[in-house]
Amino acid sequence: MKNHLGHPVFKVLADIAAESHIEAYVIGGYVRDIFLNRPSKDIDIVVLGNGIDFAERAGAALKSKVAVFKNFGTAMLKYRDLELEFVGARKESYRADSRKPIVENGTIEDDQLRRDFTINALAISLNKDNFGQLVDPFNGVNDIEEKLIRTPLDPEITFSDDPLRMMRAIRFASQLNFNIDEAALAAITKQKERVRILSKERITDELNKIILSPVPSIGFKYLFDTGLLHLIFPSMAGLYGVEVINGKGHKDNFYHTLQVLDNICEVTDDLWLRWAAILHDIAKPATKRFEEGHGWTFHGHEDKGARMVPQIFSQLKLPLNEKMKFVQKLVQLHLRPIVLAQEVVTDSAVRRLLFDAGEDIESLMLLCNADVTTKNEYKVKKYRNNFELVKQKLKDVEERDKIRNWQPPVTGTDIMEIFGLSAGKEVGLIKNAIREAILEGDITNSYDEALAFMLIKGKELGLTPVTEQPK
Ligand code: CTP
Repeated sequence: MKNHLGHPVFKVLADIAAESHIEAYVIGGYVRDIFLNRPSKDIDIVVLGNGIDFAERAGAALKSKVAVFKNFGTAMLKYRDLELEFVGARKESYRADSRKPIVENGTIEDDQLRRDFTINALAISLNKDNFGQLVDPFNGVNDIEEKLIRTPLDPEITFSDDPLRMMRAIRFASQLNFNIDEAALAAITKQKERVRILSKERITDELNKIILSPVPSIGFKYLFDTGLLHLIFPSMAGLYGVEVINGKGHKDNFYHTLQVLDNICEVTDDLWLRWAAILHDIAKPATKRFEEGHGWTFHGHEDKGARMVPQIFSQLKLPLNEKMKFVQKLVQLHLRPIVLAQEVVTDSAVRRLLFDAGEDIESLMLLCNADVTTKNEYKVKKYRNNFELVKQKLKDVEERDKIRNWQPPVTGTDIMEIFGLSAGKEVGLIKNAIREAILEGDITNSYDEALAFMLIKGKELGLTPVTEQPK
């Protein structure tokens, strides 16, 4: 077999193993990623003995500082661009946050058996007599070939040892486009309630990894089918289903949302734009109505959806900062370009969209394109062509009127100085009137026209300028 341990650091570790008569192995994600051809910088080392002692020796040999985590029985060091973590082989389950005493002194196979998945339980020897040899008692390499997430132990035990593994199974399936083995899937379904004991942050961490995977619908379908989604993100699970009245159904908003999400993932890696795709129709169940003679409507779902965003972010412990504001804005505006694409587009409608979307206009257009999920080829073509027209129009209007990142040509301070006002209602009224006039196209977005307009507006309000105006 090819020697996978080409990096010189492995030779140093092998020498320590030989000198100290302690067996050592590379294990976990680093080995898995060799077989997946994904270079990795995180190296986990398991030793048949005390992991911290071994790490101290490695630190001395590599002249690197060692960070010791006594409670976990682990130690870590950085060497060049690599991060090495050391642990003694365990008989008990691997648990990063275990409060139970760590039971060391297992064999390598004991340790592998207690890991989460067969693909993560692969080890490569660092020992003199079989350096570089793969140790794969649970056919992990075969599972990589078969694209299968399987547990080394009875899955009921593996998941009950650490319920986060239910999320990890789905995350790996989504990242790698693997299937989850049937018994493992049944065990997740059975034990799903145990996610409740995990911290929200750890769940969301895995959820974000699913969202960042190439085709996130793979993960979300597993989350839904096992019932985990209903527990960790009920409003998304609530999108599922079709109601029929008088023989008329609406589309299933869960599968539609997944399609929009997969679509957007083809054109962006941005986590927050992906979140906007997930949440764009989140208020459809809450706004759903059946109107006689009209069919299903979801009036105002964009407004209600935007209002739901902070609450959802807070429940999921996502950041309540400008990222949340971005998602909220996109949810709020997601219908606007579609409306423009269907009607005769007026310049003022385009200016208003540019004004409201500002910097995020491109992201919004990507979301709208992704939102076209009809199976009707003719309609897809028509919408996409119309979007191209809208995009061209946005470009033309922006070049001419500079509305994106709009700053008022006449500022509030100007207004106060010219009319001798202090801050108050009238200043706001005049500012708004100028903005509306520009967006409507009554005046151009220039200082001179805005100034002239301001004087007229001021007069209407009974104000007279106190300063001389430049001609
Ligand atoms: N592990 C486990 N159970 C967990 C977490 C981790 O058995 N709940 C084991 C697995 O063998 C895993 C190794 O610890 O390969 C390292 O875990 P971690 O660094 O979280 O993940 P990686 O497998 O390295 O993958 P990634 O870096 O993609 O998260």
